[in-house]
Amino acid sequence: MSREMTETEIQQVQQGIKAKYDRVAAAGAGGNFQYPTGKTGMELQGYPPEVLKNFPPEVLAAFCGVGNPFSLEPLNPGDAVLDIGCGAGVDSLVAAHLVGAGGKVVGLDVTAAMVERARANLARLGLAHVKFQVGEAEALPFPEASFDAVISNGVFNLTLNKEKALHEAHRVLKPGGRLMLADMVLVAALPPDQAGKVENWFQ
Ligand SMILES: C[S@@+](CC[C@H](N)C(=O)[O-])C[C@H]1O[C@@H](n2cnc3c(N)ncnc32)[C@H](O)[C@@H]1O
Repeated sequence: MSREMTETEIQQVQQGIKAKYDRVAAAGAGGNFQYPTGKTGMELQGYPPEVLKNFPPEVLAAFCGVGNPFSLEPLNPGDAVLDIGCGAGVDSLVAAHLVGAGGKVVGLDVTAAMVERARANLARLGLAHVKFQVGEAEALPFPEASFDAVISNGVFNLTLNKEKALHEAHRVLKPGGRLMLADMVLVAALPPDQAGKVENWFQ
């Protein structure tokens, strides 16, 4: 929306996002997005072949990212990584594979039901250096300079205060840390009959 949103619209967006991701947590990614999800989406985005080969099918099926943050910069063994808007945790688990047992990964998501899905996926892989928690991109519950890398996939477009969310990502990164972000952006103005609709936020 190019104008300021009203308080009512903000609440409608928050409720719409929660309802959508409660639905995705219950039913899975398939059929809920206008782009390829699951293993097919990960293959198209060039995820590491060993991940596609070795991760359990139920974990790969839960991917609903829009790109591949790992294609931007390497993660190093031992890195501490934060995954903002981790959903069912697929990228967090990929990060855990890349940083190894000497690293640590935290996945954070505003939708409690998605965090439950992420914990179930973590149990499938049995990794000790990953944890998932509920929280908001706009108010990260971590001290400054906590992470070597912040990753995020398909989430910042859903944040109501993007400046604050980016500021928070910067705050929790160590000096020299990397923000590896995949997302969707509008490349042209929407037609007048589509612009400004609350529903655009959670199609
Ligand atoms: C398109 S899904 C992507 C999930 C995951 N990154 C992946 O690639 O599979 C977007 C996720 O962002 C979460 N989300 C939306 N707004 C958020 C916010 N303000 N803070 C944290 N998470 C948010 C949703 O609950 C949902 O799980």
